[in-house]
Amino acid sequence: MILPVILAGGSGTRLWPLSRYQYPKQLLALSGDNSLLQRTALRLQGLEEAASPLVVCNEKHRFFVAEQFLQMEIDPFSIVLEPVGKNTAPAVAAAAIKALALGEDPVLFVLPADHHIQDAEGFLKSAKAGEALAEQGRLITFGVVPHAPETGYGYIRKGESFAEGAFILDKFVEKPDLPTAEQYLASGDYLWNSGMFMFKASVVLDELKKHAPEIVQACKQAVEDGREDLDFFRLDAKAFGRSPSISIDYAVMEKTSQGVVLPLEIGWDDLGSWESLWQTGEKDENSNVLMGDVTTVDVTNSYLHATKRMLAAVGVSDLVVVETADAILVANRDKVQNVKHIVEELRKRQ
Ligand code: GDD
Ligand code: MG
Repeated sequence: MILPVILAGGSGTRLWPLSRYQYPKQLLALSGDNSLLQRTALRLQGLEEAASPLVVCNEKHRFFVAEQFLQMEIDPFSIVLEPVGKNTAPAVAAAAIKALALGEDPVLFVLPADHHIQDAEGFLKSAKAGEALAEQGRLITFGVVPHAPETGYGYIRKGESFAEGAFILDKFVEKPDLPTAEQYLASGDYLWNSGMFMFKASVVLDELKKHAPEIVQACKQAVEDGREDLDFFRLDAKAFGRSPSISIDYAVMEKTSQGVVLPLEIGWDDLGSWESLWQTGEKDENSNVLMGDVTTVDVTNSYLHATKRMLAAVGVSDLVVVETADAILVANRDKVQNVKHIVEELRKRQ
């Protein structure tokens, strides 16, 4: 059995001012009617052998998450609530422990809740190929052919061929610095880590025990002392609070010798910034992506998004403008990675 595990606890600061701590990007409908979380869950419906997803999110977002599942008429396997965000390794550990506690050892299909995938069929095909390899006790990553020296991604060096369309994971480097990323890109030997993983619950737990035993200890206790509460499962706050805060990439993928990579060609994009929303969005004849009530004259290559008021722009190019009830962002399209610094600045002021 495949048990999809949707990680929905991030804060998505680079998509401020739409993404907020109280209502982060995975809950937003950034294009189309469904939120990114909903699109992640709906995409899985084509995977017949999969159970309903187990969602791990912060307890303060629980009603939004439950409501979004209700809208889709999908009954989640479980909504596991974190009292505090401890990054993705504890979230995966808690999901694996919860699954094993039910007497099952499913293949966990770990999915970020905030990705754009163009080719849904291709995605399902890769998932099926991944399942077969995960059943053999391997930790599967899905690798994307890189087209820029992105420093916000993990990089995977492909090793020898392992099975049809799959390679031994020779090396995993989470978020290298720019010179290293440039070198990786030029070498042609590396793929981006898409952030989706597949492994059996017992296998990832064994790897975590080996490389990050404090996480397993804390999460075991957090599940044991946790409690069902309506439609939710609350991890015990005291125990979970003792877990180190670290991503699954640093905790396991950089260290494991059991990794396998499946190259992906499915029009993948981590909707990590306003630039990626411009890249993936539907453009008008002047290459603008316009969302909401927007009027333009002589505007090119821009992303303009209005939510509450009319937005009008004249004679500008390569801009990002995002209007919300209480904040407006104006940025150069090539500087949008720095929006996260605005959020840091605003937090200091609070
Ligand atoms: N439940 C839970 N708890 N989920 C979390 C937490 C947490 O504390 N922190 C992050 N997440 C969720 C986010 O909502 C997102 O869906 C996913 O986990 C990945 O977290 P990000 O914070 O978006 O990671 P990243 O983008 O910096 O890096 C990861 O994704 C890249 C591709 O998008 C890594 O896996 C990279 O190697 C990868 O290239
Ligand atoms: Mg991300």
